[in-house]
Amino acid sequence: MQSGAVRSHGVMEGGGSYNRHARIPAGGAGLAMPFLEQAVQRLALNGNNHPIVIADYGSSEGKNSLAPLRAAIRGLRVRFGPNRPIQVVHIDQAANDFNSLFDVLHRDPERYSAEDPNTFPSAIGRSFYEPVFPPEQVDLGWSSYAAVWLSHIPALIPGHFLAVASTGEVRAAFDRQGAEDWRRFLSLRARELRPGGRLVVVLPALNDHGAAGFEPLFNHANAAVAEMVAEGTISADERARMVLGAYPRRRAQLLEPFEPSGPFEGLVVENCELSELPDAAWTDYQRDGKLETYADWHAGFFRSIFAPSLASALDDAARRSSFADQLEARLKQRLAQRPMPFHSFVQTIVLAKEGGNADSNEQVRLETLR
Ligand SMILES: C[S@@+](CC[C@H](N)C(=O)[O-])C[C@H]1O[C@@H](n2cnc3c(N)ncnc32)[C@H](O)[C@@H]1O
Repeated sequence: MQSGAVRSHGVMEGGGSYNRHARIPAGGAGLAMPFLEQAVQRLALNGNNHPIVIADYGSSEGKNSLAPLRAAIRGLRVRFGPNRPIQVVHIDQAANDFNSLFDVLHRDPERYSAEDPNTFPSAIGRSFYEPVFPPEQVDLGWSSYAAVWLSHIPALIPGHFLAVASTGEVRAAFDRQGAEDWRRFLSLRARELRPGGRLVVVLPALNDHGAAGFEPLFNHANAAVAEMVAEGTISADERARMVLGAYPRRRAQLLEPFEPSGPFEGLVVENCELSELPDAAWTDYQRDGKLETYADWHAGFFRSIFAPSLASALDDAARRSSFADQLEARLKQRLAQRPMPFHSFVQTIVLAKEGGNADSNEQVRLETLR
């Protein structure tokens, strides 16, 4: 990490806050569901009667994992019957709120174990930029809205906290880190997958013109932080250390390790699909005219995902929570004054580990994906 940059990053707000505010990632995962179901149809289970292992890389507090995992488990049951135990392993950074995750896994009415008692949830607190499983243990990998977070922050960003708002050398440093981390993520997952296994990665993305859709929301937040510096709530030094390690990629960047057309570390691309995710809060507002709900919704979303990373640049732990309160309040005010939709982009990439049943490894030619 660049000296003086944020101490920790990419950890969501705890206490169930992320679960309450993560409707946008839930929408993105919903768009990816047909690809997940197809991946389950295609995956090959090799070897003996071992339990089927599903890995959920970057689960956070778990609520958004339930619907995709229920769908995956149903598909596996249709293919492999009711008797095979299914282990579901949720992975996140050690600082994640695992208490909230376990609460969801054991109490949420939509938990997969309520529908299928032959499932066995567990969790690992370790970065997915390290090996998380011994080799060839995972049949199905799922990772939604998580691999957008870099392993570390490569540079401070003058005047903003967002990589896509950076230019020149700073942008180049993020581009390099983004490429390196994507390769590292893929290599590690390739080792963990069993031959014939599938990995489905869903990411908030840039479209082919480099737009994310959230830019005005981030610009509002940046202006709100600048007001806090002007009013003396935070210092200019603290502000300068605020950087988000979120790096949305274009489709070409996701496909780059597979160029010109070959597998990468034994993984082949089956799908790579860019979708547009309409802003559900905007749709509600258009229908019911409830401006405050619209503003609350987006400010809460921003706070639960990004405020902990920004606040970790503050020297004094006691001020971190009041920083998040103030940022959210200012953001709400700005959004209510200038409501607009934040339609965003989602990229789903499905990868197959070579070596399984030949019929199930249908590599889609890269030319058709571009
Ligand atoms: C936006 S949340 C996504 C949660 C959930 N998958 C969803 O779709 O709503 C991103 C999660 O990725 C996790 N994450 C970020 N970097 C990580 C890393 N290096 N290793 C493991 N988890 C990471 C964060 O801690 C966070 O819980």
